[in-house]
Amino acid sequence: MAVLLNSPNDDTGEFEAWRKPLLKLDPTMDLRVWPDTGRLEDIEYTLCWLPKPGDLKRYPNLKVIFNLGAGVDRLMADRTLPADVPVCRLVDEGLTAGMTEYVVWQALYLHRSGPRLIEQQRKKLWKPFIYPVAKDRRIGMLGLGVLGGDAGEKLSYLGFDVAGWSRTPKHVEGVKSYHGPEQLGAFLARTEILVCLLPLTPDTTGIVDSKLLAQLPKGATLINPGRGAHVVDADLIAALDSGHIDHAVLDVFHTEPLATDHPFWSHPRVTLTPHVASMTQPETAAPVILENMRRHKAGKPLLNEVDRKRGY
Ligand code: NAP
Ligand code: GLV
Repeated sequence: MAVLLNSPNDDTGEFEAWRKPLLKLDPTMDLRVWPDTGRLEDIEYTLCWLPKPGDLKRYPNLKVIFNLGAGVDRLMADRTLPADVPVCRLVDEGLTAGMTEYVVWQALYLHRSGPRLIEQQRKKLWKPFIYPVAKDRRIGMLGLGVLGGDAGEKLSYLGFDVAGWSRTPKHVEGVKSYHGPEQLGAFLARTEILVCLLPLTPDTTGIVDSKLLAQLPKGATLINPGRGAHVVDADLIAALDSGHIDHAVLDVFHTEPLATDHPFWSHPRVTLTPHVASMTQPETAAPVILENMRRHKAGKPLLNEVDRKRGY
């Protein structure tokens, strides 16, 4: 029985960071690192991030695919993914804490008119202005799952008026729950800072389009650490140009790295970060993966198994 670390795009060597925590928890693990797979028949578990499309069908005895990130959209897009092998996505406290930090950081930046203050400094303009208090600032989490739920809850601790929208109703402390297509309009109408933390699926691709943006109040802002393809770029740029959307903070893009000639780079109403909102932390993620392997060996239900039909 062997475990394969499968992250072909990792050319930084950082992937080796997994070795230590995994072997500390299970010193007997036969751990292999792609492309040095050894005999393909030996591989029973794979820990992967953006494996090469078609690669995962090569292991005839593969029992579970562990995705080393929260989003499984790229895996699900591989039509050759073995249909009978369960896929688990990553839910771990390090990844959740990182995303909550990012969302709180950017929400405070937008709430306190960060872009305007930076522009004033650039112009050497001393111009104090009044800002609304947190309880009067309405934040909306598009996606109220593990990440949206935690960030929403922490924003409510800070006193913000927080709501969330999901497929099914949710109970998150301090967060009003809206759900389903029929409640999306009411959720958007009350949202001044929209945070997209949906998974990318056929239902959510292009969800942030001109129709959705038009339902936000004038001057609303967007934070997107979900996936680039949630946003229709041309529609967002039009809404920013018209001033209907005051500012967008974008961490993810249709194509990454973002092309140097993409208008987002230099748009005065865009702040962008290079897909760093949250990163998987091997130290906190390894115990979750090991626990899942134990559960699988004991015939218990897996944690965080992806519903292949829903796509997340
Ligand atoms: P999750 O726990 O699965 O939560 C997803 C949420 O979206 C749930 O509330 C779900 O509602 C809702 N949802 C899904 N499809 C929907 C639909 N059609 N209509 C309405 N609501 C829908 O996922 P997560 O762990 O929070 O992660 C969310 C995403 O964050 C990931 O998929 C990934 O794309 C992104 N991410 C980005 C970074 C980064 O660094 N930028 C890092 C980690 C993750 P139900 O629960 O009711 O089904
Ligand atoms: C990162 O983008 C993730 O999905 O974990």
